[in-house]
Amino acid sequence: MSDTDQFYRIAKLPPYVFAVINEMKAKMRAAGKDVVDFGMGNPDGATPQAVIDKLCEAAQQAKNHRYSMSRGIPHLRQEIVKRYQRNYGVELDSEKEAIVTIGAKDALAHLLFAIIAPGDVVVSPNPAYPIHQYGVIMAEGEACMLPMPDPATFLQGLEDVYKGPKKPKVILISFPHNPTTTCVDLNFMKEVVRMAQVNGSLIVHDFAYADLGFDGYKPPSILEVPGAKDLAVEIFSMSKSYNMAGWRVGFCLGNQRMIYALSRIKSYLDYGTFQPIQIASIIALRECEKNTTEIRDMYQERRDVLLEGMAAAGWPCAKPQGSMFLWAPIPEKFRPMGSLEFAKLLMEKALIAVSPGIGFGPLGEGHVRFSFIENAHRTRQAMRELKQFLRTA
Ligand SMILES: Cc1ncc(COP(=O)(O)O)c(C=O)c1O
Repeated sequence: MSDTDQFYRIAKLPPYVFAVINEMKAKMRAAGKDVVDFGMGNPDGATPQAVIDKLCEAAQQAKNHRYSMSRGIPHLRQEIVKRYQRNYGVELDSEKEAIVTIGAKDALAHLLFAIIAPGDVVVSPNPAYPIHQYGVIMAEGEACMLPMPDPATFLQGLEDVYKGPKKPKVILISFPHNPTTTCVDLNFMKEVVRMAQVNGSLIVHDFAYADLGFDGYKPPSILEVPGAKDLAVEIFSMSKSYNMAGWRVGFCLGNQRMIYALSRIKSYLDYGTFQPIQIASIIALRECEKNTTEIRDMYQERRDVLLEGMAAAGWPCAKPQGSMFLWAPIPEKFRPMGSLEFAKLLMEKALIAVSPGIGFGPLGEGHVRFSFIENAHRTRQAMRELKQFLRTA
């Protein structure tokens, strides 16, 4: 045990599995190896030019250098509300039902911190984006993980949890889902809202991949469900929809009680994102819907190139309907070695970096995740290496 492990909260956090892969990738690249990186879901594209221009202009003005507002400037809150009106037909009050956050991660971590008391149960699918589980643990809640081979099985699992002794305080979901790529329709959302209504639970929907639905599929917002605002919030992120991952802008929208709780916590913790970034984000929401469509189409094309290459290499996988990932079951003969060792082997022998499934929780074992962050040319190059590796391994 290292010194840091002895701190109460840090001791509850397992070593970050992805760090092992990142270190290995860095070493191989330093040694001159051209590793094709499908690891982290870190968008490689540029932020729309109009947004960058606005940032530069706003950054020239001294009035924007001061502390901003912890819950976000009014115009930005008004703009996200307009987007929800336009895209989902959802009406929100920009004063009481919308808050700007420092990305979705800030919203998730601090919302859980604000609304969870020690021992409160938060139920969510597993595998999942790590903060969904560890945000609960850091807030001293009880993370109840349900497998999600498909949406219907998850709903059945949820039904069963409600029959048990401890009712969940919060249902934490996210669709299109990272890493499994599971997508749902509005009826699924209605069913989750119904169960939460009947049992007095709250819902948090992480909508980080709101705009990444493929082949005509449009992911639903949970706020489209009538009455959802009475018990649900949705977290929307600029990271994937506008290639703005490094800018750190997101939103929490919907239920007034939860928005108020989050704004109280955040008023102690931060002064909001640098104001020129917030001003530039207004331009993204107002003028850059075309860029969002292009970003989605690009991921869809990369998905197709990757799937074609995987099939040609002898590793066929099901087509994801949304997100920016492929959740690939490890080929039978490599499965016993586990996802971390398999990911290391892929990097060493095929010069391909992927995320091991175990990094997304115990139920992620048996899979690796490919992100669509390499262009079509490099994806084809990687698939040729993969074919060679699988043929000879
Ligand atoms: C499900 C999910 N939520 C949230 C995030 C992070 O979003 P942000 O960059 O807005 O913090 C990610 C990023 O990969 C994600 O996959």
